[in-house]
Amino acid sequence: MQKLYWYSIAMVLPVLWLAGCSDDSAPANGPAQQARDGAQLYRQYCVTCHGSGALGAPGVGKEHRPYWSHEIEEDGFDALVLDAINGFNSMPPRGGCFDCSDDEIRSTVIYMLNKSGAK
Ligand code: HEC
Repeated sequence: MQKLYWYSIAMVLPVLWLAGCSDDSAPANGPAQQARDGAQLYRQYCVTCHGSGALGAPGVGKEHRPYWSHEIEEDGFDALVLDAINGFNSMPPRGGCFDCSDDEIRSTVIYMLNKSGAK
């Protein structure tokens, strides 16, 4: 009987543990978090330069569409994302968001291009 009791505890504990984890719907702050939104990341990390043109950063907005359209035509979208990830001249790697994943940088670049009306 004693043995069966411990078996059942051992079976139930992981279930409780898993249930506890999946209940975690609030935005986490740790590194193992869900991908963040491009708009949010842009405002947090990129607007400093790209909103003001600091250090010669290309601006974001419809009036900057010719610049971005040209970049996409010349280099392609993937090259823009790679430049954003690796850095390029005064553009710091990942725009200074060191814990941003490649996918997060990609969605931030998409956000910037959408804001500029470039495709
Ligand atoms: C410290 C200022 C600064 C910050 C912060 C910054 N950038 Fe930049 N970024 C630049 C500058 C300057 C350039 C232009 C580089 C050049 O063309 O010589 C640039 C260029 C770019 C380009 C175009 C690359 C190309 O190939 O033409 C992309 C895309 C980009 N940034 C994305 C981002 C994203 C996404 C973020 C935020 C996660 C970000 N940047 C944050 C300064 C910044």
